[in-house]
Amino acid sequence: MIEQRWYKNTVIYSLAIESFLDSDGDGVGDFAGLMNRLDYLQGLGVGAIWLAPFHPSPRKDHGYDVVDYYGVDGRYGSHGDFVEFTHACRTRGIRVMMDLVLNHTSDEHPWFQAAIADPTSKYRDYYIWADKKPADADKGMVFPGVQESTWTYNRKARAWYYHKFFEFQPDLNIANPQVQAELLKIVAFWLELGVSGFRMDAVPFLIAADGIHVQGAEPAFHFLRRIRELAQWRKGDAVFLAEANIPPEDCLQYFGEAGDRLHMMFNFPVNQTLFYALASGDTGPLREKLEASRGLPETAQWAHFLRNHDELDIGRLPDDQRAKVFAKFGPDEDMQLYGRGIRRRLAPMLGGDRRRLELAYSLMLTMPGTPVIRYGDEIGMGDDLTLPERDAARTPMQWSNERNSGFTQGVPEKPVISEGPYGYRSVNVALQRADSDSLLNWTERMLRMRKELPEIGHGAYTILPAPAHILAMCYVFEGKVSVFVHNLLEERIDFRVEQLPQDCTERSLVCIQTDERIRPDKTGCYDLVLEPSGYRWFRLGGLEDMIAGDEPQADGGA
Ligand code: NOJ
Repeated sequence: MIEQRWYKNTVIYSLAIESFLDSDGDGVGDFAGLMNRLDYLQGLGVGAIWLAPFHPSPRKDHGYDVVDYYGVDGRYGSHGDFVEFTHACRTRGIRVMMDLVLNHTSDEHPWFQAAIADPTSKYRDYYIWADKKPADADKGMVFPGVQESTWTYNRKARAWYYHKFFEFQPDLNIANPQVQAELLKIVAFWLELGVSGFRMDAVPFLIAADGIHVQGAEPAFHFLRRIRELAQWRKGDAVFLAEANIPPEDCLQYFGEAGDRLHMMFNFPVNQTLFYALASGDTGPLREKLEASRGLPETAQWAHFLRNHDELDIGRLPDDQRAKVFAKFGPDEDMQLYGRGIRRRLAPMLGGDRRRLELAYSLMLTMPGTPVIRYGDEIGMGDDLTLPERDAARTPMQWSNERNSGFTQGVPEKPVISEGPYGYRSVNVALQRADSDSLLNWTERMLRMRKELPEIGHGAYTILPAPAHILAMCYVFEGKVSVFVHNLLEERIDFRVEQLPQDCTERSLVCIQTDERIRPDKTGCYDLVLEPSGYRWFRLGGLEDMIAGDEPQADGGA
């Protein structure tokens, strides 16, 4: 028996409570609003919701500056609302995942306040200190151009503290066993309240040896195992999804060779090369990263995404490739961020071109792993480049053409997009629900098909021979064989599928979108036509095929 683990064949939907739906008119989204839209998410085909941080916080970094790990920001609701929410999700078969920001706290967190107030306090060693300004204080900033250093002097503490991110986010010292114990307790608490997993923020920095000043220190991989052990003891099917923008060859250590550390990781290298493929028509670098993404332990899984709440980070592409992506998708200076990324939403990046949007989604949905969708991308929401930094792509959800996009009856804390082609009067859920050809309804259909193809999340994959502008992949799992073909060019082309990796003689490739059957020729090859920017999904024998080797009979057939 091969265990079918929930996170291997689900669709994760990422949202920030504050931007989803405001139920009480204070201009900020809340749990009651989100609950009101759970049926929408269920209808879309979402299997898990990933909530951005919702704890009490000064929100200088959208809640990634936590003041109370056990709390719920009062503007979003209470613990009661949270538990109602997890219960309502459970009744709909939707899992809840939440952001887990353990690398740093807010500088207003009581631990940090105690640490600066008294050098003998036990909390002092919860953070990382230096008496003198370290020589590398102006190196390694995550937000270059906005963040000035990684060490800041605190007058009250009379010492310098380390912060990989902004100065109001002091790094926790996980070399301290008491800090580790605190962090485990936070995980245990939220599991008890009904979550099924965590999106773990900034994992490479959390476990990094630098900043801790221990000579020859290794990254704290053992902590990843510890946190998984704890979670699985408390709740057997809980998972961790790591945010770690690192090369694929380094990822195995995060999963653990025995599959005993984190369950899932975002595949940033595939994300960056996928955008390069869209910008250039060349799938070569994407194929390389897909090949480099192999060899995971049985329980490990990649998560794939197009856009998230941050900038599209293309910093790891070679210079010439990055230049092409910038030129195509973020040519203006105000579209770019931190010298490495693009702060736009998906739809405007692709010029609102429906064929390119479908192509991008189709590629992402057929990458080996679990797809993660960003709220609003299912309707092709736009961005507001007048907002600072990453805020551009974090505007309120566009529900209808009522005032404030139906997001709030009050004054929205963050402006709703009201002008231009992506304004809420043109782009909203209500309009698209009523239109069977809308992006929303297309996405819903694609998600249904994606979930009917467990081989993508569970199976073994092969990249089939194809010219550079075509990506053709084949998946095999428990006798199911599927083939996905993508044409990166904006012209119609013929393509021949050769050499399926298992003996498929005589069996038709059935197109899942159209139910068209393509029979193999005498040599066992399949001839296809791909439309400009076309994508085609096939299952050998079709989705209704019960027994490997049988062809379903047409009505009235022999
Ligand atoms: C990564 C998050 O995705 C980002 O939004 C945040 O600013 C940093 N971590 C710091 O927590």
